[in-house]
Amino acid sequence: MTAFRVVCSGCGYTVDPAATLPFACPGAAPDDGIDHVLVRHLGDGADFPAPAEDLGGENPFLRYRRLSLAHRLALANGLSDEAFCALVEEQDTAIARVDGSGFRVTPFNPVPALPGAIGAPQGSRIWVKNETGNVSGSHKARHLMGVMIYLKVLERTGLSAGKDLRDRRLAIASCGNAALAAAVIARAADWPLDVFIPPDAEEPVVRRLNELGASCHVMERQEGQAGDPCYLGFRKAVAVGSLPFGVQGNEVGLAIEGGHTLGWEMADALRQQGSHLDLLVVHVGGGALGSACYRGLQEAVRAGVIGRMPHICTVQTTGAYPLKQAFTRFLGERDPEDLAASLNHAARNRADYMKPWPSTPHSVAHGILDDETYDWLALVEAMAATDGDALVASEDRLRQANKIGNEVTGIAVSHTGSAGLAGLMDLFATGAIEAINAAVLFTGTERS
Ligand SMILES: Cc1ncc(COP(=O)(O)O)c(C=O)c1O
Repeated sequence: MTAFRVVCSGCGYTVDPAATLPFACPGAAPDDGIDHVLVRHLGDGADFPAPAEDLGGENPFLRYRRLSLAHRLALANGLSDEAFCALVEEQDTAIARVDGSGFRVTPFNPVPALPGAIGAPQGSRIWVKNETGNVSGSHKARHLMGVMIYLKVLERTGLSAGKDLRDRRLAIASCGNAALAAAVIARAADWPLDVFIPPDAEEPVVRRLNELGASCHVMERQEGQAGDPCYLGFRKAVAVGSLPFGVQGNEVGLAIEGGHTLGWEMADALRQQGSHLDLLVVHVGGGALGSACYRGLQEAVRAGVIGRMPHICTVQTTGAYPLKQAFTRFLGERDPEDLAASLNHAARNRADYMKPWPSTPHSVAHGILDDETYDWLALVEAMAATDGDALVASEDRLRQANKIGNEVTGIAVSHTGSAGLAGLMDLFATGAIEAINAAVLFTGTERS
């Protein structure tokens, strides 16, 4: 087993996760222009489970534990593998009590009727990763379960990064799936959570947050105030000691790792079925989902679980597409001979590429309307390295994809959650694609 590290992909600052929480980069200075995101490196990819290896059933946080920073940290600091598993199971059982069920590997299969329904070339296969049945109804809980397991390891081992942890509340700015996920995980851990929400947050979401015991803070926009009031509230709470418990890589670098489980599960399923993927189309808001899928698949390729990376295409809406704009700028600037140098330049000149969306966006896919793609650079890398593209779906296409997605698969997925299919339909509509193996994620159950 090689040494694990957490390193900022922007400035190179290295964090020891036993001593410092691997959340926001401690090397970041205001307005330094650098894209700071702490990324965990395990040093190898060889610990992927073998095909028939049973590592504790269907819980991905057990099955893939050897690929997690928390597990490496636990074992390096006196906790046994059995004790780590018991800690995960304890948290998972508490989640099941709060939300009905704990974490299980979610289905990932080709849907035979989908290619015909969306006019894909004959012979195409379209795989759907169905996350609507995941804890709290979307993939978001994966990001936060990874973080919570790490916090629990700190508590259990008494490492200095965990000093006075329980005196600190958790905080998140969100009024959607991320908030619901945070509330479930926090409740199961019996950890107080502050959620900063806008005045127009959806009533069923607020009701559920209250049921889960989260403290909701309605943030009104103040006269002359610049920036999102919820985000400002969240920042203020963190400044006075709260633990950031969100899903953006720049705020909580480690949150991305829990999402890697999606990439690992997809790769495992492909291996099991002797298949491969040519293309993954992933919808993007803040970018953690896409970044996590990319990194997880990359690790699976390195471990030899799948033979090669699929092309990765991202999807945003005509309401807001800051990633598409950043990718276009990147393509204009990049050195075609040296991707690493071009990415490094982008990491050190963030504002030249990722510019916040200038107006208030609207879309039926309202969960992906982030005015900045926080994890943009990993996605720029994903698209550039795999010869993918940044797609923008129209409102008509988003509606059409949602209708077909619901009817053909029987999955009650929201417009946000089926936006990847809208992008795939746009690609097929160009007529330029031949029969392929493509995949989308349906994440985000329809809440009516
Ligand atoms: C259902 C659903 N899918 C996808 C996303 C996008 O994820 P990310 O913000 O990590 O890009 C969100 C974000 O809120 C979501 O709720």
